[in-house]
Amino acid sequence: MGLISLAYVSVSHHPMSDDELLRILEVARPFNQSHSITGMLLYRDDFFIQVLEGESSVVLPLYEKIKTDPRHHHILEVYRTPIQTRTFAQWSMGFNRVDDAALSAIPGFTPYLENKPEPTFFTSQPSRATQLLEAFKDHVYF
Ligand SMILES: Cc1cc2nc3c(=O)[nH]c(=O)nc-3n(C[C@H](O)[C@H](O)[C@H](O)COP(=O)(O)O)c2cc1C
Repeated sequence: MGLISLAYVSVSHHPMSDDELLRILEVARPFNQSHSITGMLLYRDDFFIQVLEGESSVVLPLYEKIKTDPRHHHILEVYRTPIQTRTFAQWSMGFNRVDDAALSAIPGFTPYLENKPEPTFFTSQPSRATQLLEAFKDHVYF
């Protein structure tokens, strides 16, 4: 057992409005808070990337539940790794919409900007997921 960090990418069924995104967070945050789960959720162009941090005995069942959520599909795990300390300790689930300006400020993200997001951009190089998620650590959209 112990603390893990698990990240995945997925695709929403349709472009999600702020209201729809808020509905996810209104359920996610109280659950995560009461289960000591922290993390970050990013959204762009029908594309989610999320990191969940917490005890593996809590994170893994939550991830299984999230995978069955009908609001997204094509869920692909990017990494799951034991951690000593949390990177997103301040967020029960931080959220950001990822816009072009934010992306272009992160070195190496030009391929991602020029094309529609491809999950393999992250699965082939998981450090890109870490880099993107951490770039939004100190700023949340709502
Ligand atoms: C992209 C995405 C991310 C989600 N993240 C979380 C989360 O971090 N925590 C959480 O409790 N639910 C999260 N959910 C919602 C769950 O899938 C599920 O709807 C929620 O846990 C309520 O499940 P229940 O109705 O079976 O209790 C997420 C859903 C989506 C689509």
